[in-house]
Amino acid sequence: MAGHKNLYIRTFGCQMNVHDSEQIEELLKEKGYRRTDNEKNADLIIINTCSIREKAEQKAYSLLGRFRKLKEINPGLIIGIGGCVAQQMGADLIKKAPYLDLVFGTHNIHRLPAMLQYVQKNGNRAVETSFHESVKSLGIQTLPRHGRVRSYVTIMQGCNNFCSFCVVPYLRGREESRDSSDIINEIKFLADHGIREITLLGQNVNSYGKTLHNSSNFPSLLKKIGDEAGIERIRFTTSHPKDLSDDLIACFAEVDSLCKHIHLPVQSGSDYILQRMNRHYTSKEYLKKVEKLRDVCSNISITSDIIVGFPGEKDNDFQKTIDLMEKVRFDNTFSFKYSVRSGTAAERYDDKVPESVKSKRLEVVQSLQKRHTLESNRALEGRVEDILVEGYSKNKRTDVVGRTGTNKIVNFKASGDIIGTIVRVKITKAYINSLRGKLIAKRRGIGNVSRNESIWFSY
Ligand code: SAH
Ligand code: SF4
Ligand code: F3S
Repeated sequence: MAGHKNLYIRTFGCQMNVHDSEQIEELLKEKGYRRTDNEKNADLIIINTCSIREKAEQKAYSLLGRFRKLKEINPGLIIGIGGCVAQQMGADLIKKAPYLDLVFGTHNIHRLPAMLQYVQKNGNRAVETSFHESVKSLGIQTLPRHGRVRSYVTIMQGCNNFCSFCVVPYLRGREESRDSSDIINEIKFLADHGIREITLLGQNVNSYGKTLHNSSNFPSLLKKIGDEAGIERIRFTTSHPKDLSDDLIACFAEVDSLCKHIHLPVQSGSDYILQRMNRHYTSKEYLKKVEKLRDVCSNISITSDIIVGFPGEKDNDFQKTIDLMEKVRFDNTFSFKYSVRSGTAAERYDDKVPESVKSKRLEVVQSLQKRHTLESNRALEGRVEDILVEGYSKNKRTDVVGRTGTNKIVNFKASGDIIGTIVRVKITKAYINSLRGKLIAKRRGIGNVSRNESIWFSY
């Protein structure tokens, strides 16, 4: 389109940040910006940052250095930084990087167009990191990008849990839930625009409704979405084990469109470490919840997050994490070396674990997980799965790629006309990161039929 300006966004961190970037893109579209994948063509660069571990923070700084060079070539280039590092550092970022034009915090995405206008008009810098009680960006609706079949929907913002290792409550503020009718309307809108699967987002979705002063809670929201929103597949992330209620567990049997997958971060298998992490559950309680989930839904996929080398973690504490992994046999885990974060309670613990020990422990966790992931993927060989087809495979136009309800990636031979539909695929081969399959049936007219009258035909 003639006359538009180019916006280049780099995003780090969690899915909430990814969704924030989509909202930024939407807001700036109204100001004449279109997204580009080429930073060299950009009129405006936004770095959407994460501060969860030191490494994530460092990435933002090294990128800033690179963009500085672009600004030397093109002095008209505007550079902005948002997200959790921006929230944490505020105006100090301008001191660190004087060529920055914009700094906006996690509660100020909606202010971006006005800030940009100010910068353009006055050639000045703008910094906005104040917290607001009501987060305006919760309501920014994004239009699905062309060809997309999945989309995020924010249901809540912030976190009240204060796990002792975590900066999120300081950078995203207190929990705030979005009104359920706004959520349903957004999902209906997305479904009308070709979206087949939504992921409900929140730092701890299980707390949904607590700030709403009515009877809404997360299980009732899920049921309402399942009944009213007309969406094929629902996912959510993330849930804190302490708040995983029996009602929510029951949803895996009661809400047809809820995918049979839960991400349930355990962090550690040692009760001593869990208590120091301020997690409010024991390993036994965690295992009990896993058992209940599997009672309700035998083939549910369970994934998790694990931190190794938290202060005070001795060999026998670490062994308990390994024991717990052996008992649960997670489908997958994200595992991290503990990284000290400024301002958190764990910063004060002085029994830090040496880096070399953390590295060894991480390796042990990751190689065990590989074994378990392969094992759980192999269990699918020979089985028939419903796959939502998302697009062409990465390197092969003759293959398409999609996901099982349990969130496993499957590649198989098929033409592109089935993208955006749910098809039946026989799993023929399991690898660590994906599965290979064979198309056996596709569903007709998925856009026009309701769930109950779907028609399958053999392929
Ligand atoms: N709100 C989500 C997770 C947010 S952060 C939840 O509670 O589940 C994602 C993961 O990063 C956490 O589950 C944890 O495993 C990891 N993490 C958070 N802070 C960390 C730190 N200081 N060092 C290492 N890993 C950390
Ligand atoms: Fe961080 Fe804990 Fe909140 Fe998750 S629940 S965002 S780990 S404080
Ligand atoms: Fe990172 Fe902030 Fe998300 S610290 S993990 S981007 S909430």
